[in-house]
Amino acid sequence: MSTSVSIPENIKKILVTGGCGFIGGAVIRKLLKSTDAEIFNIDKVGKVSDLTSLDKVIKKLGQSKESKYYFIQLDLADETLTEKVIFDIEPDLIIHLAAESHVDRSIDGPDLFIKSNIIGTFNLLQSALKYWQKLPSNKKESFRFHHVSTDEVFGSLGAIGQFSESTPYDPRSPYSASKAASDHLVNAWHHTYGLPIVITNCSNNYGPWQFPEKLIPLAIYKAFNNKKIPLYGKGLNVRDWLYVEDHVEAILLTAINGRIGESYCIGGNAEKTNKEVLESICNIMDRKLKKEDTLKNLITLVEDRPGHDQRYSINFSRINEELGWKPKHSFEEGLELTVNWYIENIYWCEEMMRKSNYNAERVGLRNYK
Ligand code: DAU
Repeated sequence: MSTSVSIPENIKKILVTGGCGFIGGAVIRKLLKSTDAEIFNIDKVGKVSDLTSLDKVIKKLGQSKESKYYFIQLDLADETLTEKVIFDIEPDLIIHLAAESHVDRSIDGPDLFIKSNIIGTFNLLQSALKYWQKLPSNKKESFRFHHVSTDEVFGSLGAIGQFSESTPYDPRSPYSASKAASDHLVNAWHHTYGLPIVITNCSNNYGPWQFPEKLIPLAIYKAFNNKKIPLYGKGLNVRDWLYVEDHVEAILLTAINGRIGESYCIGGNAEKTNKEVLESICNIMDRKLKKEDTLKNLITLVEDRPGHDQRYSINFSRINEELGWKPKHSFEEGLELTVNWYIENIYWCEEMMRKSNYNAERVGLRNYK
């Protein structure tokens, strides 16, 4: 069984933080299609943020949706404004995705990760708590604060074993440490002040609209342009890949139906070495672009990431047993969809790279800025 989400009638206002990011944007697109609730997107609009996907979907859905979607540019590091905005919006549900998310960038410049992921979450929790405490009892009862996090908080696995909700935290990078800190804050606000929270910890996502600095979109971009595709170390690190739309389903299911105070691990059941991922991308592109020489020749081993986590793997039986969730896309299906999308939208990558002054160069080799 695999369940689809239905948003209850009493949820009339949903606040999503980080809606200009890859996963946040996918959450908002799904919400716009599946509920008449008002959707509020709060985003600081960082270097890799983008509104194109949302603009497109809103235009397509027409006027009735346009009037139910609001975008507010706000950095959660601004405590006063964050509080004001929460009180103005009066949300029934907060889905918190705003975060700096690229491990390599966190190695070069951890400051931004501390500010966005820890201070930002702290400010949001404080505001949400003040707001929640003042709600009438029926609204107080149904309010939820959903925190979207990562499996990287659990550290690194060897050849065997899986992460689950009971795995001790052991973050290794500035990014994962900042996400672990934010998870601890969210849990503390629940246990100490009673804020009704749910946390999800997900494995690697991929799909359309992901900024071309992460492995899959970067590799597609490089292959498309006949440039060398960098493979860190020996290429044998393992990630558990999940198509972004499946993650969105899991987020909404747990936000609505998850047990308060609990965390849920979400994974793709698709463990691959990075080498396998790049070879699969090249195979699809060879076929689609009718290449005579395989693009696999572009795959090049490069210096490893400092502190590179060896393997991630998720046991998602809790969300499966309690809420009936499992991924709908196999890795092969999801990757085919993703490669198709990037080939058709390569101009979007170029535009994003131009806007953010990023040239697909290597980052994260400890040259601290
Ligand atoms: O596990 C969930 C996490 O997955 C998320 O919380 C993070 O936000 C997300 O960035 C991702 O972290 P990773 O470090 O696993 O993702 P990334 O795409 O940067 O790298 C995936 C793997 O590929 C990793 O082992 C490093 C390797 N890699 C990455 C790049 C960018 C390469 O071999 N070459 C590359 O050029």
